[in-house]
Amino acid sequence: MSAEEKRPAARQSSYRDVARRMKIIQEQQKRVVENMKKIKYKIAILSSKGGVGKSFVTVTLAAALAVKGRKVGVFDADVHGPSVHKMLGLPTGLGLPARADGTIEPIEVPPGLKVVSIGLLLPTDETPVIWRGPLKTSAIRELLAYVDWGDLDYLLIDLPPGTGDEQLTIAQLIPQLTGVILVTIPSEVSKAVVVKAAAFAKRLNVPIIGVIENMSYFECPDGSKHYIFGRGAAKEIAEQFNIPYLGEIPIDPRIREANDAGKVFFLEYPDSKAAKAFLEIAEKVTKIVEGKGASSSESNTQEISEA
Ligand SMILES: Nc1ncnc2c1ncn2[C@@H]1O[C@H](COP(=O)(O)OP(=O)(O)O)[C@@H](O)[C@H]1O
Ligand SMILES: [Mg+2]
Repeated sequence: MSAEEKRPAARQSSYRDVARRMKIIQEQQKRVVENMKKIKYKIAILSSKGGVGKSFVTVTLAAALAVKGRKVGVFDADVHGPSVHKMLGLPTGLGLPARADGTIEPIEVPPGLKVVSIGLLLPTDETPVIWRGPLKTSAIRELLAYVDWGDLDYLLIDLPPGTGDEQLTIAQLIPQLTGVILVTIPSEVSKAVVVKAAAFAKRLNVPIIGVIENMSYFECPDGSKHYIFGRGAAKEIAEQFNIPYLGEIPIDPRIREANDAGKVFFLEYPDSKAAKAFLEIAEKVTKIVEGKGASSSESNTQEISEA
């Protein structure tokens, strides 16, 4: 009698389950690698702090890059609070088209952005996602494995606040992640938390493309500027970590209104200071990542697995 035959039946079947599961995970990881090869630059938007405008920055930077002629996709990896789809005018529960070969098609919205969000797969806005880490990891891995983005110049990945499961999953799964963009508001509280995100990226050997300051100031109709949340956080982070300072976005009530109404602020108000700031930020980002060929930098996965 072989060793396998001597084992109790229940244990044999659980070994087989684990082996089968491992095989599926390996296949998905291979698919992720193949999919990501078709995308030149993969950038995650990171902050550690909620409510600083990460999702707004993700969709607006994506729109600015698309207007500059780049092929852009947006992946919302905020499992618990997906909002990218809503900011782009797509209702929760819309679903994602599945093809006969098992791949998933992103939804395309103006100005030519391909969008995938977990929010599109939830039945309603009120549906909470009550998942522990492993479930979140497998949802993100499955989407990255089966979504067919096609050939893209940029994939921007919106992340939830923090440096936990979702951030680690993205950093580990995506080979040659081009880098992260940090978003902060000017307050000390935000800065202190965003510094953690910078340290997280450094620890995992993921390049930091730069830092954006959102809600930098409010400008009155008479032209006077009011620094509601304080001043200088992003510049201080840039100096501390020796990373590029990408620019500042003012507070503009039309941003909140447009986001709530599912309209792309950047397209609705192209002459606003905020929209112009995004064009400059997009210019800097393209110079930084395309200029130095960041996509061909060494893989970060080795260091991460040791981290
Ligand atoms: N510069 C800004 N001016 C006005 N409202 C803003 C600005 N940036 C973001 N908002 C609004 O602030 C809220 C939080 O932004 P969001 O992008 O959802 O943050 P996060 O993804 O970091 O949690 C949203 O209602 C958004 O419309
Ligand atoms: Mg968000």
